[in-house]
Amino acid sequence: MLPKFTSKAFLAPMSGVSNVALRLLCKELGAGLVVTEFVNIHAIIAKKDDITKFVEFSPKEKPVSIQLFGSDLKTLKEAIKIVEPHFDMIDYNMGCPSPQITEQMACSALLQKPELTRKIFQTMRKATNKPISVKIRSGVNKPNRWKIIAKIAEEEGIEMIIFHPRTVKQGYSGKADWKLIKELKQLVKIPVVGNGDIKTPEDAQRMLQETGCDYVMIGRGAMTNPFIFKQINDYLKTGKYKEISAKTKIKYFFKYLKYAEKYQSIRPANIRMQAMNFSKGCRGGKKLRGDLIPTKTVKEIKELMETFYRGL
Ligand SMILES: Cc1cc2nc3c(=O)[nH]c(=O)nc-3n(C[C@H](O)[C@H](O)[C@H](O)COP(=O)(O)O)c2cc1C
Repeated sequence: MLPKFTSKAFLAPMSGVSNVALRLLCKELGAGLVVTEFVNIHAIIAKKDDITKFVEFSPKEKPVSIQLFGSDLKTLKEAIKIVEPHFDMIDYNMGCPSPQITEQMACSALLQKPELTRKIFQTMRKATNKPISVKIRSGVNKPNRWKIIAKIAEEEGIEMIIFHPRTVKQGYSGKADWKLIKELKQLVKIPVVGNGDIKTPEDAQRMLQETGCDYVMIGRGAMTNPFIFKQINDYLKTGKYKEISAKTKIKYFFKYLKYAEKYQSIRPANIRMQAMNFSKGCRGGKKLRGDLIPTKTVKEIKELMETFYRGL
């Protein structure tokens, strides 16, 4: 059974971005579900004695889902046994377009392999009683694979489908084709999470209304504005939401930093990128981002951010 979600808006898995610090922040700001960065099943086996350091998480971010990738069935089963006690859900990645990954017969390459995909879902289903979701794109070159994969997922007991309706070829270009989310919602009975191009609370409401999807998932929009979850929750409830001041945004960067410093997997480069993301849209943010580029240490980043904050 799926966990009880307190919001219709979820944080998307984002490699190098949706680490435990950002997830905690988004959770505090109203995200209904947060998902880890994608994790290689082979790396889980290799680091099984050290897993809680490798894929860091906090009880405060619950419900939290771990996203896995990799198609070797034996390894997948073992990896699930290792991670499942720590997470509320398991998400399976069938969307990543990166050639280094797809050439390992993983992620979006599987959109072309319905038989293997069925075996993967069967293996996952047997390995755990925890709810499982799958995150898909619409196809490789054309938007023609998603229906097949979605039906297999439903038949094999996957509990939720997260749909980013762009092809692999599109990458992140063009627009996500929300019409396909509506078609998916009509095709399957399990919950559908719509994903792609939500930047504002108005976008979230429009996707829910236009497609009938059960939940929405936000990636890039949350990377620069984690407040989007509170804004969406307020907007869906009252029709209004508050704009966030630059000062508040930067204050939350320091909160992110406080969390990040507790976790060893979050590196200065991740913190620097998040400092840059939080400064988007702030007056003087462009200069700040230029100053942040050469920084190497957390101390340097912190000092620049403190000076910037005082000047706001
Ligand atoms: C920096 C970055 C990293 C990403 N990493 C992952 C990942 O690890 N797993 C995944 O399923 N999708 C990943 N994605 C895709 C997002 O989850 C999401 O599907 C995509 O960005 C579209 O949603 P958006 O328009 O709200 O950003 C990533 C996207 C970005 C921008």
